[in-house]
Amino acid sequence: MIRELSVVIAGDDRHLGHVLSEIRKIKFVPIHLEIARPAQLKETLGRMHPHLVIYDTDGDTNSILKTATQMGNEFAEVQWAVVSKETDVDLILQFFRSGAIDFLKDPIQADDLKRLIQNVLDKVNDRDSSAKDDEHHTIALFSTKGGVGLTTIASNLAVEFAKKHSNDVLLLDLVLQHGNIADVLDLGLQYSLTDVIENFERLDAKLLANSLMKHKSGCYVLPSTKKPDDVEVVTSSHTAEIFQFLKGMFRYVITDVGHEFSRTSISFLDIADLILLVTTPDVLSLVNTRNAVDTFKQLGYSPDKIKLVLNRARMKGEIDPSLIKKNFAMEIFCELADDPITCLNAINQGKVLSELDKNAGVSKGVQRLGQLVSELQKKGTAHVAQRTSC
Ligand SMILES: Nc1ncnc2c1ncn2[C@@H]1O[C@H](COP(=O)(O)OP(=O)(O)OP(=O)(O)O)[C@@H](O)[C@H]1O
Ligand SMILES: [Mg+2]
Repeated sequence: MIRELSVVIAGDDRHLGHVLSEIRKIKFVPIHLEIARPAQLKETLGRMHPHLVIYDTDGDTNSILKTATQMGNEFAEVQWAVVSKETDVDLILQFFRSGAIDFLKDPIQADDLKRLIQNVLDKVNDRDSSAKDDEHHTIALFSTKGGVGLTTIASNLAVEFAKKHSNDVLLLDLVLQHGNIADVLDLGLQYSLTDVIENFERLDAKLLANSLMKHKSGCYVLPSTKKPDDVEVVTSSHTAEIFQFLKGMFRYVITDVGHEFSRTSISFLDIADLILLVTTPDVLSLVNTRNAVDTFKQLGYSPDKIKLVLNRARMKGEIDPSLIKKNFAMEIFCELADDPITCLNAINQGKVLSELDKNAGVSKGVQRLGQLVSELQKKGTAHVAQRTSC
């Protein structure tokens, strides 16, 4: 997934003020921008291999057509477009025949520029995501009862993904009032969702990137609010917009959605490709989980979108898993063993489970959960898996 679009503006910098100011207004993707005079262009393209070159013809249309064609032959992977006052249809056609992907009218219009950048972004992302595995994935962890292990599983799963996709995983804490992802991962609470929302008016991908924390596994983290009162300022439209940015920045967004059906949580569950519905083998948790499944049905979610994760399997006094299966009419996607000592030690020592004891049942369970989710994503469609012992 591309994080920054590199763009070269070719032309005389004395005439580029308007193009530059318009391009700097683009917020939906960070842009690394360089200006190159025609004489320096070849060196700049050779060094930078940008995603896009925008040629400002500044009246010198024929010579720019020649240069752009030459550069297009030499740097075939670089997309290029033209800004010109030229209205002659034959000449414009010549640009397109030579490989231009767009011809923008001078003075450049904000909407035209946005369209061009989005077009290049789509092409680059298409190119990068030829394999299904490269697509964006949004995974929501949810339960309708507290204390079932949601935060433990979400944070350890994100770290599991980061082992393979370092820097491409974001762990988002949507438990607005008492989210403790940052505590589980032993990160001091430097930034949080509150900071992002405080700067919402000037939000762009760069600002968001600067508001994230990073765990040593390579997983980025956006913790929830700093204090319970802050929850008042968070709205579902904030989170929806923040999520749009995150989607463009990370291949995996793994979210602790918490235990409540609220506007914010539902708006996130709506857009998730996969909901891991976590339950434990006790009556209260199972009753609540069954209610959650009914609510998902009412919300119109496809059954394939929801996978049941049984945490604390084989805990003392557990309800027989065969009864769980019968009551849910739904397979258990993955089980994680009951292991209070490992879980408690991990939290108390500020370590993730695999770091504390990679051979513990619960650590292997998280690893297996990661594998099963990856397999689903590779298939590109959710499958009801067989009950899996971990
Ligand atoms: N597989 C497990 N075996 C034993 N204990 C576990 C397991 N998973 C989690 N726990 C423990 O259960 C407790 C609750 O876990 P966690 O905070 O992850 O749950 P939660 O659903 O996020 O809770 P909350 O309602 O507070 O958000 C913690 O003490 C954790 O160590
Ligand atoms: Mg929690």
